[in-house]
Amino acid sequence: VDEKEDDKGSKADANTPSVSCSFDRNEYHLRVYVYQARNLMALDRDSFSDPYVHVSFLHMSQTTEIIKSTLNPTWDQTLIFNRVEIYGDPQMLASNPPQVVLEIFDSDQVGKDELLGRSMCLPLVKLNPVVGIAAKLLWCPVLQKGIHAGEILVAAELILRDKVDLALGAQTELPLIPPKRGDSLYMVPQGIRPVVQLTAIEILAWGLRNMKTYQLAPVSSPSLVVECGEERVQSAVIRNIKKSPNFPTNVLLLKASLPKDEMYMPPIVLKVIDHRPFGRKPVVGQCTITSLEEFRCNHDEVAEVAMSSKGELHINIEERPLLETQEKEAIDWWSKFYASTGEHEKCGPYLEKGYDILKVFNCELEDVGEYKGLTDFCNTFKLYRGKNEHGDDDPTVVGEFKGAFKIYPLSDDPAVPSPPPQFKELPESGPQECLIRIYVVRGIDLQPKDNNGLCDPYIKISLGKTIIDDRDNYIPNTINPVFGRMFEASCFLPQDKDLKISVYDFDLLTHDEKVGETVIDLENRLLSHFGSYCGLPQTYCISGQNQWRDQLKPSQILQNHARLKGVSPPRTEDNEANKELHQHLGPPSERISLHVLRTQGLVPEHVETRTLYSTFQPTLSQGSLQIWVDVFPKSLGVPGPPFDISPRKYALRVIVWNTTNVILDETSITGEHMSDIYVKGWMPGMEEDKQKTDVHYRSLDGDGNFNWRFVFEFDYLPAEQLCLVSKKEHFWSLDKTEFRIPPRLIIQIWDNDKFSLDDYLGTVELDMLHLITPAKLSEKCSLHMLDNTPKSGQKFDHSKSLFAQKSVKGWWPCYIEKDGRKELGGKVEMTLEIVNEEESEERPAGKGRDEPNMNPKLNPPNRPETSFFWFTNPCKTLKFIVWRRFKWLFIGLILLILVLLFHCDSS
Ligand SMILES: *[C@@H]1O[C@H](CO)[C@@H](O)[C@H](O)[C@H]1NC(C)=O
Repeated sequence: VDEKEDDKGSKADANTPSVSCSFDRNEYHLRVYVYQARNLMALDRDSFSDPYVHVSFLHMSQTTEIIKSTLNPTWDQTLIFNRVEIYGDPQMLASNPPQVVLEIFDSDQVGKDELLGRSMCLPLVKLNPVVGIAAKLLWCPVLQKGIHAGEILVAAELILRDKVDLALGAQTELPLIPPKRGDSLYMVPQGIRPVVQLTAIEILAWGLRNMKTYQLAPVSSPSLVVECGEERVQSAVIRNIKKSPNFPTNVLLLKASLPKDEMYMPPIVLKVIDHRPFGRKPVVGQCTITSLEEFRCNHDEVAEVAMSSKGELHINIEERPLLETQEKEAIDWWSKFYASTGEHEKCGPYLEKGYDILKVFNCELEDVGEYKGLTDFCNTFKLYRGKNEHGDDDPTVVGEFKGAFKIYPLSDDPAVPSPPPQFKELPESGPQECLIRIYVVRGIDLQPKDNNGLCDPYIKISLGKTIIDDRDNYIPNTINPVFGRMFEASCFLPQDKDLKISVYDFDLLTHDEKVGETVIDLENRLLSHFGSYCGLPQTYCISGQNQWRDQLKPSQILQNHARLKGVSPPRTEDNEANKELHQHLGPPSERISLHVLRTQGLVPEHVETRTLYSTFQPTLSQGSLQIWVDVFPKSLGVPGPPFDISPRKYALRVIVWNTTNVILDETSITGEHMSDIYVKGWMPGMEEDKQKTDVHYRSLDGDGNFNWRFVFEFDYLPAEQLCLVSKKEHFWSLDKTEFRIPPRLIIQIWDNDKFSLDDYLGTVELDMLHLITPAKLSEKCSLHMLDNTPKSGQKFDHSKSLFAQKSVKGWWPCYIEKDGRKELGGKVEMTLEIVNEEESEERPAGKGRDEPNMNPKLNPPNRPETSFFWFTNPCKTLKFIVWRRFKWLFIGLILLILVLLFHCDSS
């Protein structure tokens, strides 16, 4: 049954294997409707092809006409094969028809035509030509060497002809002959060709970015051609792309008869033409946009928004308790961060204060569904050039087109006025200088780069001509680094739109390796109507931790927002009766504006999580980075102060005044009980920074006088109430590791011994978060004070924290373990004070009694005359030790000598 025959007949008959079937020979009429193709390969140097289709069925073939310079040709042709003879039962044929083979070639004037791809379609077999449904155009995949190379929109009908009619030579039973174009070409007839509608395509031609050189010369004066179906429109020429890469006029309109059925929509083709000397106008990049669905818009939408925004708005601003003023020490940006991530154990008293929290997105801000990729103002379309080599995902991207489309139907009646343009209220399109703040919070699960399965990560930023290399601040041995870094840079938008943030691995011995990078389009951040240039906080604060940082006040942003949405701007008034509930809050009118803005689906204050990619494995995550970016156009003035997201630097100042009741550990050569007292102190975890007072020699009563200052500097994470210490884990470690250690102070009393090891007399360990309250008088100071250390699980008492008290003075007991019992080893009188970086600069203080000896100034101690070191003070030794002790012996001796002398003289 499948035997195939040449339409010319007789010659093939002789070769037919089954002669018995000859009476089964039927005659058919084949129509192949070749409408169009899309996304064909570019084979010519000019980025396009000159495609035609070679259609074959059994042993017959025909070709369409050639369409010049396109990857999306519309042939609109019906190819008619009038007398096709096929053996076999028509019913069987209908269920299993032979294929129509379509080969698309690129016509070449010089060489052989090249194959662009092959496709096929199955004809609809019609046993009765008049009744039954018509064929439907379908997109059939085009393959070239097994690889997808576009699609072709075709259909075919195979119509069985009646033998009687044939004998009469009648044509009547066939469908109508399709209309002709020119002399010889049949078009695709009504009923099969797509139904069209006059359609407006509004084009926002915003600008061109990152254009690569073409034939060794940079693209300097490009224009844009937009084609859809048969229509095209060309933009004005960008004079100097370096100076201003945006089009001088941004809105273009193209009217075309386009299919109503989305399936048949021809693509939009963008071509960028460079205007070069001697009238040369090469196409330097092109792009095909196949799916236009997302650009279709409905005129009713705009009206709806306007409606819903009208009406009255009642706002109750939530009452918050008036706040205490201790927050400065207890909270910082990290408290807000941990309060926002739900790690409440790390956020201290932040939440109780009812302060703002922020939104932590677990993906890129562009990938948060509500914000439409931040391409609501314009999209970025990649431009390609030249031959489309296969196997590459991104063959040759030669630049980007920034723009957008709005597609809507127009009435065919010219009397009906066109709807108003969709692209209006366009922002300034010239270059703008902007201040960019990049906050890098932390890295998560970075790809290890070192043999120990860890990393020594640091940040590198590139923006326009600015490169920021933060190698000095690498974080040792971690794949989850806390960066807490803020970088500021200036750039011009749109030219420098691509902000690249990379993480590198510090390496002492070999070169640093890149872990991965992420790129942010700052132009989209600035232009998006979702306010992604600076996220909206929950409240409008004019001071404090959450001080407003946008250049515009909420009321101004609200005005702009209303204008963009085409509604009348809201009015707010300050109501005097509205009392302030929060010491940092701004005026009520601004707070109400902000409250309204917060209901508008704008980007809130946030941290986003960006996946890092390496150039070698562009699809494989190399870990992620939590960051956020603020973009401030300089023309709008100075923004609010940046958040401080660094771990805080603090200094603990300890002044050792006096000791008393210190064990008298030694017996002098003359038999007196005494100690050579000094005091030692350090913060656990920072043992390399141990500090000592000078020695109070020969204390005979356990008293010591020092007036000596220790200064310990440390990084502190108030949110976590931990010190951040980076040091070598082992002596043999090459580099440091970061540790988190509770803030504590150890104070010890020692007896100095010049010729043997010093003797340890007593110790006290002070937890700076639950400080033991010192005694005002030394007599009241006892070991009992050590008993009420807080039990684990006891609620954190903020008032006990040295960070809250700032400065504490008094007596603390030091103990020594003897037979498992604590015994008093001495009492020490100290002042403890915590200062942050600012205060430490404002009120400097040197170590010991070194300069700057101030805040307060420490005078040399007023030690008793008996306090000296005998070895270096022979006179004093004579006077105080030898003389005092052996005074009577000396006197006796002298008397004896004198008596003897007299005695000798007289005798
Ligand atoms: C330390 O002791 C000396 C001598 O007893 C005394 O004069 C001084 O006031 C004491 N210092 C403080 C700060 O109490």
